[in-house]
Formats: sequence, structure tokens, C-alpha cells
Amino acid sequence: MAVCEILKMGDPRLLRVARPVTAFDSDELHLLISDMLDTMLAANGAGLAAPQIGVDLQLVIFGSNARNPRYPDAPPVPKTVLINPVITALGSSESDPNVLEVEDWEGCLSVPGLRAMVPRFSRIRYTGFDQYGDPLDRTVDGFHARVVQHECDHLIGKLYPMRVRDFTRFGFIDVLFPGLDAERG
Ligand code: NI
Repeated sequence: MAVCEILKMGDPRLLRVARPVTAFDSDELHLLISDMLDTMLAANGAGLAAPQIGVDLQLVIFGSNARNPRYPDAPPVPKTVLINPVITALGSSESDPNVLEVEDWEGCLSVPGLRAMVPRFSRIRYTGFDQYGDPLDRTVDGFHARVVQHECDHLIGKLYPMRVRDFTRFGFIDVLFPGLDAERG
């Protein structure tokens, strides 16, 4: 078990455009993913991107169950390793081709203690590869779509505060949501 230090906003390594992974199913890659899973679980995160532990690669992991104390109301998202991702915005439903943006509260392990309302595409398709090099192709919406967009933003040097449009809904968790325990940071 290796829990890594999570870089915080202000660290220039969070602002890089990450390099694609070129070698799959290697000992090095499996070890990196194992460390990322340990780090995400220890921090109660719903996702983690390799740049957040200082690794300059296009690799994110995410997934949550109903017991995640940081996101107790979020629907479960399957545990996923996503490498070299490509995201496409889709129409808001199969019958509606109009791309829709929705706002919801987001936090980030690299921005501890804060939350903001962040606009994201409501429905997306994402493709990429798992750690064995097998292709992944999913169409998702809701919290799942939000988590993927948030994590993949880390791969292009974007942190969620850079996506905020309404700064009246950006603040400290203990002020915005009094009574919630500190674990939600
Ligand atoms: Ni984040």
C-alpha cells in the first residue's frame, strides 16, 4: 500500500498537458495504478488523475459507491481505469441532439476545503483504454459524466475553479454546508 502526496493547486505540475501512455500492461503501469487507488481511497476521493500525484501521464481512475463520505448523495460510478481518454459531448438524451450543460457542486482533492458550482456537459461519450490496452467506450450522463470530465480536465492542466462562471457559488465547504463533517473536504 502506497498512499502518495496529492499536489495542491498552485503547483505548476497540475498545469501541464499530460503525455499519452504508450506501454500497457507493464509492471510500472500496474504499480502506478495501485498507488493511485490507495491514494484515492485514503482521501475518500471519487477520482484521481495521475498529474495529481506528479505523474505526467494521461491516466485517470474514478469510481464511487454510496458510502463515499465526500459525495454521500451521488449515484454509484463503476471503478474505472481510463487511459488516453477522448471525450465527446452528446445531445442531452438519445432523442434530443442539443448539447446541454448542467451545473452541480464539485470539489477536488487538489483544492481541499472548497466547493463550487461547475458547468459540465450533461451527457458524454468517452473512449480510451484500460491498463491492459483494451479499448473502453461508454456513453454516460449525470454524476458519472461529471466525474469523467473533471478527472480528464486534470490531463489538460485544468482545475475546476478555472471552469467556474458564478463565483457567488464558490466557497468553503464548512461555510456552504454547515454541519457536514470535515471528511467531505
Ligand atoms: Ni480533481
